Amino acid sequence: MENYIELKNITKHYNDQRIILDDLSLSMKKGEILSVVGPSGCGKTTLLRCMAGLEGHEGIMRMNGTDLSGRTDSRGIVLMFQDSLLFPHMTVLENVTYGLKMKKIVKRERIQSAREMLAKVDMSDHEKKFPYELSGGQQQRVALARALVTKPDLLLLDEPFSNLDQSLRYELRQYVRDVLVEEEVTALFITHDKEEASFMGDRLAVMGKGRIQQVGHPEVLSIQPCNPFVARFFSEGLVLEEGFIPTQKLTLIPSGSPSKDIQMEGEVVNESLEYGKKIYHIRVPHLAQTITIPSSEEHNFTKGTSITLKYTENNIHYFDEVRKIKKGGDGENEIVAYS
Ligand SMILES: Nc1ncnc2c1ncn2[C@@H]1O[C@H](COP(=O)(O)OP(=O)(O)OP(=O)(O)O)[C@@H](O)[C@H]1O
Ligand SMILES: [Mg+2]
Repeated sequence: MENYIELKNITKHYNDQRIILDDLSLSMKKGEILSVVGPSGCGKTTLLRCMAGLEGHEGIMRMNGTDLSGRTDSRGIVLMFQDSLLFPHMTVLENVTYGLKMKKIVKRERIQSAREMLAKVDMSDHEKKFPYELSGGQQQRVALARALVTKPDLLLLDEPFSNLDQSLRYELRQYVRDVLVEEEVTALFITHDKEEASFMGDRLAVMGKGRIQQVGHPEVLSIQPCNPFVARFFSEGLVLEEGFIPTQKLTLIPSGSPSKDIQMEGEVVNESLEYGKKIYHIRVPHLAQTITIPSSEEHNFTKGTSITLKYTENNIHYFDEVRKIKKGGDGENEIVAYS
């Protein structure tokens, strides 16, 4: 299938000339939800603002084969922010019909479409209320209805749940994903939360240093990061200079146990609970890294205990650059088997 959204060599700096987006490229299929995850300040909001036509930039942006440069008017792209930014003096229904009014849709039709959309986000009972009479989560649902009612070609969501508490966030993100899938909306979802990115996206892009570092299914990114940046930011495991070992391939043994495998010394510096299971936080001084590993039935380590992590050569996923050198080629066609 042809790419619906195509960004090529996007470069952006603000007035201070510091490069924010550095030759960034990205593509999306029609109807796809793509999550973009990256550390704070890496340029995620800037990317969305460029796509929405709110910022100038260098490089090419195409939607459905059409160049977007110079089309600042009705791009068919809607941007949804962290805060819902509903019009405070309008009721819920008026907020949702507003975009349709701008599109000169007749009143009867706008009210019908708005009511249908409010039903989808379960806000029908609140249509006469003003934003200040709603909770944060309800306001975000109205904002989503307002964004979707105009049937945008592309919806850009900039951390829309970050101001909500965890239970509300979990509830709302399920809603939002269901509605986006049902309406077949092409959407770019920005977050700095890895778990939320995996939950929301059909695919996931890791952004850093002004670029998209790797795009793929979350599972692939978590065990086969292409470089140290993705490994450190996204994947769970040991980051070596030449490659990466996913947590599930590491075995934890008491320090000093005999083993033929490769060994790395560490110390249990803390423990926490996740889904009722004890998680060890292990400091690995040699790599200046702290990793988390679930406890096993076999061993019960206490805080402050020295331990050994063991793995074999086969467990290492080599970074792209290293694979290229090892293969003496570009490494592009190599199939990585991971059992
Ligand atoms: N209008 C502006 N003028 C100058 N610099 C800016 C402007 N807006 C953003 N920046 C800078 O661009 C960089 C990227 O900012 P951006 O808001 O895109 O990051 P982000 O990835 O969205 O971060 P966060 O996760 O914290 O929202 C930051 O260093 C920021 O200081
Ligand atoms: Mg931002």
